[in-house]
Amino acid sequence: MAQTLSAFLQEHAAAHHIDAGLIDVMNTLAASCVAISDKVRLGDLAGIIGEAGSDNVQGEHQKKLDVIANDMLISALQNNPHVAGLASEEEDEFVAANQDGQYLVLFDPLDGSSNIDVNISIGTIFSILPHQGELSTASFLQAGNQQVASGYALYGPQTLFVLTLRHGVFVFTLNADEEFVMTREHNHIAAATKEFAINMSNQRHWQSAMQDCIAELLQGKEGVRGKDYNMRWVASMVAEVHRILMRGGVFMYPKDKRDPSKAGKLRLMYEANPMSLIVSQAGGLSTNAHQAILDIQPEGLHQRVSVVLGSSEEVTYITDKHIATG
Ligand code: AHG
Ligand code: MN
Ligand code: MN
Ligand code: MN
Repeated sequence: MAQTLSAFLQEHAAAHHIDAGLIDVMNTLAASCVAISDKVRLGDLAGIIGEAGSDNVQGEHQKKLDVIANDMLISALQNNPHVAGLASEEEDEFVAANQDGQYLVLFDPLDGSSNIDVNISIGTIFSILPHQGELSTASFLQAGNQQVASGYALYGPQTLFVLTLRHGVFVFTLNADEEFVMTREHNHIAAATKEFAINMSNQRHWQSAMQDCIAELLQGKEGVRGKDYNMRWVASMVAEVHRILMRGGVFMYPKDKRDPSKAGKLRLMYEANPMSLIVSQAGGLSTNAHQAILDIQPEGLHQRVSVVLGSSEEVTYITDKHIATG
């Protein structure tokens, strides 16, 4: 019989000497994702569709579900004694939790907000960092390679929970009894791909190295890459990363020339770092087009970053081209 998430976590913790407190935090996150999934499934019937009428610190209009998912995660995690503090895409500052907590949880409560109202896949992304001592913003500014765990929930045709505790990537599917059951383990991202994901409507704003890369991908079989590429764009990072985990591909959200102070659209702490740990644990690569995302020393909670992640051959090609251009 397929293994439940809670049974898996117990066994995995024993096999890899993982602290019980961390497992407890993972169980809290999974339970919150089930509760969010229940609301997502009901849509209009649960009154979760539409604008919240407020803006977040990112300068985005919040959807009702951005706020609801954020509140649900905060209250569940604050009640977990192992959590010292939280940081969220939807909160201006960090949120304190429990003084003796050994972990910090950073999250994008609802990823793919533009898809909420049109019934397209959305998700929740989380990152867990170790913590000791006094809590301040500086406590959260740890490089992605310090993460002890990360993962995401995907609210798609099925609700999935995907996690890594730095010993492989595991995929769980929510069953009819509202229990996550393991459906894949040790996912491996194919090294080469013929599928890329980028918001092409921003093409004119990209820097020249990214313009050149995409132009080369579009040349097809006759071009320098020698392959006919296909393109996908869901506009939910969770869905793009999951597709790449399942069948390979490369996802890009580059910085562009419109606002030089912004290093891209996606957030290092809530989106890029947790997804980079998942991708690296699955044998893929993840860079900001110049260096490994997991090696970046963060300078701010809401810091943005360019993202190139997925199949290693394509990520290497795109990154090398950017490095050569300077
Ligand atoms: P969020 O909904 O958490 O603000 O994140 C949305 C992000 C990401 O999921 C996706 O890759 C990207 O924004 C979509 O951006 P476009 O609007 O450029 O398609
Ligand atoms: Mn947002
Ligand atoms: Mn997001
Ligand atoms: Mn979000």
